[in-house]
Amino acid sequence: MHLNLQDLGFDEGGVVLVKRALRMAREGDAITVSGTASDLAVHLRAWCRSDGHEFRWSDQDGGYAVISRGPAEAQRWSGAERSGSSNPLEAGAIIDHPPQRWGLAPRGSLVESGAPEFHFAIADKVEVWSPDAVRTYSQAAAAQWDPAAAIPWDAEFDLPEEVEDAVVQVMTYLVENETAALIVPSRFIAQLHPHFREVMQVLAIQAADEARHVEVFTRRGLLKRRELGLSTAGGQASLQTLVEEPDFAIASFLLSVLGEGTFLSVLWFIVRFAPDPITSAVCRLSAQDEARHVAFGMSHIREHMNAEPRLRESLIHAVRSRHEALRYTAGLNSEVFDALVLMAAGSWEPAELKRGNQLLSALIQEMHASRRKRLMQVGFTEAEAEEISSLHTRNFM
Ligand SMILES: [Fe+2]
Ligand SMILES: [Fe+2]
Repeated sequence: MHLNLQDLGFDEGGVVLVKRALRMAREGDAITVSGTASDLAVHLRAWCRSDGHEFRWSDQDGGYAVISRGPAEAQRWSGAERSGSSNPLEAGAIIDHPPQRWGLAPRGSLVESGAPEFHFAIADKVEVWSPDAVRTYSQAAAAQWDPAAAIPWDAEFDLPEEVEDAVVQVMTYLVENETAALIVPSRFIAQLHPHFREVMQVLAIQAADEARHVEVFTRRGLLKRRELGLSTAGGQASLQTLVEEPDFAIASFLLSVLGEGTFLSVLWFIVRFAPDPITSAVCRLSAQDEARHVAFGMSHIREHMNAEPRLRESLIHAVRSRHEALRYTAGLNSEVFDALVLMAAGSWEPAELKRGNQLLSALIQEMHASRRKRLMQVGFTEAEAEEISSLHTRNFM
């Protein structure tokens, strides 16, 4: 095979053509290379030496190089491994225990041997994988909304001072909880073996959703006020147990199945009784995202529990311990509770307040019922679901 580089310099891209010609040749076969660029012979000789090809120069016909393909290139890739398959739906695409040496290699790529060992703590398929990740990620990507455009920030409204105060207090509570919901998946992304690409992407887009929730609740809170409301010790204590939970399955269960599941009820309650269009819009859009977070959390836990029945006991134990740890804290702060009552009542009239209070009691019952239902859907018995739901934090998240 003869390759004429014409006036293309070896270092101007000629190397790509030479490599291609050598790839097409069989090991031991020679190719010839000519060209008019200066120093072509010098460059070719140096490159062949470093890449292990045999080089010879002939002065005939204006001069050309004769290069015989050496074994180095083939040897370099002889120990390489195919890292599963990029299409997650293909049989055997997702490996049970992807080796740490595959590191950041895209799933399905051919990984050269000798790559460094990484230290991804969460690296077993049983712990991580849910086939729903593929669909969840594309749904989430398609459902991203722009806070500047999706919320009617300029809508005019004027609330009684105390109702506005109630909204600000509820927003303060929401921002605090959304912050926890942002931190939890973010912490685990960095520990996840990238072989489970789709799950990594789901967690990343979930964190981006929470960043948006933090933004819109903060912005609604500050719409008519200079500062946000109260943050309580009890609320923080409850969220701390979530944010600092080191186990991926337990944290996902507490956050997505129990916490965000319960939060869905809170957000739809606020949408229903929102005193202004902006409060309603920020909660409605966030609730739509939360529904996705809950659905993915449920499918992930269901898969994991099916594959590892022991997980069931660990999850029950985690809920009991969390309840015990929070036994002497106040739970949901009364400021948030009162603000929700006032929001639902819409005024300070005793009859309206009574109705607001009844609505909030109904909300709490509805949260319990939905939690029980979700718990049974992921595979707990009715009695277990009843116990877990009853012990869930009074702070809702
Ligand atoms: Fe959220
Ligand atoms: Fe969420």
